Amino acid sequence: MPAKRDPLEVIATTPLVRAVASSPIGRSVATKLGVPPAVELRRGRTLPKGPVVLAALHDAMIAARTLALLRVDVIRPVVDTPDARTVGESGRPVPPGYDSRIGALVLDLTGLRTVDDLEFARGVLRPAVRSLEPSGRIVIVARAPESYDELEPGVIAQGLDGLNRTVAKELRAGATSNLIWVEPETSPQALASTLRFLLEGRSAYVDGQSWRVAAAEVADDVADSTRPYDGRLVAVTGAARGIGAAIARTLARDGATVVGIDVPASGEALASVVNEIHGTALQLDITLPDAGDRIAAHVVDRYGPDARLYAVIHNAGIIRDRMLANLDEKGWAAVLQVNLAAQLRMNEALLDGRPGGLADGGSIVGISSTSGIAGNKGQANYATSKAAIVGLVRALAPRLAARRITVNAVGPGFIQTEMTAAIPYLQRQVFQRSNSLSQGGKPVDVAETIAYLADPASAGVTGQVVRVCGQALVGQ
Ligand SMILES: NC(=O)c1ccc[n+]([C@@H]2O[C@H](COP(=O)([O-])OP(=O)(O)OC[C@H]3O[C@@H](n4cnc5c(N)ncnc54)[C@H](O)[C@@H]3O)[C@@H](O)[C@H]2O)c1
Repeated sequence: MPAKRDPLEVIATTPLVRAVASSPIGRSVATKLGVPPAVELRRGRTLPKGPVVLAALHDAMIAARTLALLRVDVIRPVVDTPDARTVGESGRPVPPGYDSRIGALVLDLTGLRTVDDLEFARGVLRPAVRSLEPSGRIVIVARAPESYDELEPGVIAQGLDGLNRTVAKELRAGATSNLIWVEPETSPQALASTLRFLLEGRSAYVDGQSWRVAAAEVADDVADSTRPYDGRLVAVTGAARGIGAAIARTLARDGATVVGIDVPASGEALASVVNEIHGTALQLDITLPDAGDRIAAHVVDRYGPDARLYAVIHNAGIIRDRMLANLDEKGWAAVLQVNLAAQLRMNEALLDGRPGGLADGGSIVGISSTSGIAGNKGQANYATSKAAIVGLVRALAPRLAARRITVNAVGPGFIQTEMTAAIPYLQRQVFQRSNSLSQGGKPVDVAETIAYLADPASAGVTGQVVRVCGQALVGQ
């Protein structure tokens, strides 16, 4: 059933009002009223329109090799010399490609050694920030701070986190900046899925983030595939609507056979989603003690005695918001049971090697939240459950590494769904504008990030929490 809409919101979203708000005069009025029109973000499997500029300090090679693997043509700026100070100041040569709009800048800083080396980053970023196209990309690749034995390079590598977050805040028109930390052993094959995700529109609402790509065995050809889930079974909880339905559709687009799971009360909506994508439906309350057994039994029943799940996406979640002073035992327990306890129980059952359980080499993805990462008034129960998902990812990833099962989570910010439609209008406006992209995300943005994390080509990405929040001010 569609959520009841606020009359003000109905007016604000009519085509006429939107058109007026997008006109020059309307834009200025809207800005004065505090509602600038949101820029339409580039989404989907689309690369930037303009050229991809590759700048590598001290001839670092991993980004160049990865882009070659992805068959992305690059141009190089003239700053590709050890002395970065030859550019950037007025009157100095303009790097080729910067005279016009560029689509993306990939900055390989894996060769970073000294504080002076950081000047290279400034020299390359400065013109790029100015000439980046709408929804353009800056991707910084650096060695993980803890991967250095020496002090100085490790300290500087951490400094890049502040640089990246600031660049992301200064960029305009839907352009984003993200930082990828690699190990010395990380191969271009292992980095490929991440670099491709960040360049493409699939990462539209991921901004100002940093995460790690470790060394892992990844086949050469997988990085090129647009259907990485062909022949693979994936279970998605809470698949009847909202983010869960978008996850089911996105994984199916990428080749997966989806087992959609939701409560019996949402049976009709669930059936409509899975029928559309040729999956199967399992009506199940995931808080039942034997939920994991039932999922495995469904897999065997529908897909044969040898069938295994390739991935489990723990999306189902609820809110029961109350200030702690008013939060009773029931409201506390309901949220912790659905958002956390059920997940722990299902994992335990699905990981014990039984038929219909999770296969070795597979993937688990959970959903945390900016509320969990930063805390949020009125959400003691929810924030506890969502912060615990971060803990679950960190604890489970190393435990499952020997079985080559990756464990990751996304941390959505403000995503426009029926869950957030229940938030009062004004508060909702504030939430959806309070990020570097000045807009709420779409369920598909979360879904695309999950599809990237669970992709077999992302075998080097485990134990990570990737926020899909447009760089929300909350917790940054
Ligand atoms: N929408 C946001 O802005 C946002 C932000 C951060 C995190 N999240 C998280 O993303 C996930 C999806 O959120 P959404 O906005 O799509 O929510 P939603 O309420 O629109 O959908 C949640 C789905 O989960 C199902 N579900 C709830 N309890 C269940 C149970 N016991 N067993 C089986 N299914 C159950 C519901 O029936 C529903 O279909 C949740 O984990 C939520 O906490 C959402």
